[in-house]
Amino acid sequence: MKIIAVCLGNICRSPLAEGLLRREAESRGLDWEIASGGTANYHTGNPPDPRSVAVAREHGIDITTQRSHHVSEEDLEYYDLVLGMDRQNVADLKARAQTQDQRDKIHLFLDYAGLAESDGPDVFDPYYDDRAYAGVYQLVEKAAMRVMDRLGD
Ligand code: 4NP
Repeated sequence: MKIIAVCLGNICRSPLAEGLLRREAESRGLDWEIASGGTANYHTGNPPDPRSVAVAREHGIDITTQRSHHVSEEDLEYYDLVLGMDRQNVADLKARAQTQDQRDKIHLFLDYAGLAESDGPDVFDPYYDDRAYAGVYQLVEKAAMRVMDRLGD
């Protein structure tokens, strides 16, 4: 199984999703490929935002080796599951998809996790609010566990 988590810049939310999905896969003994990407290329090649690095580190997860990657059409073909962090990410990904098969792989992360009704549809962009990172971490952690539970069934 190959999964890519996608947000706008691939420096705040989806690096956390990559780190947490990988932890959940490893804890279940699954040798799955987990990646992340951004719909925008503003930060291509950059490491994750220091605020995401810090909140991940507080929870024992090292995301420092990740580098921002601009999602390509090849990615939509290559990965089995493409998880957008918010509705705009999903709309942007679907607009980029070339085939129905690619479109069908694209899902809203919290919806796929079964959390959209309780927690709302979107993992909100924390970029302009330093205080939002702890909450984003908690939400992404919960969703990553739910996604892996669902896929493990
Ligand atoms: P992300 O957050 O999509 O969670 O990585 C953002 C990062 C950068 C920008 C916006 C959102 N930006 O405008 O540069």
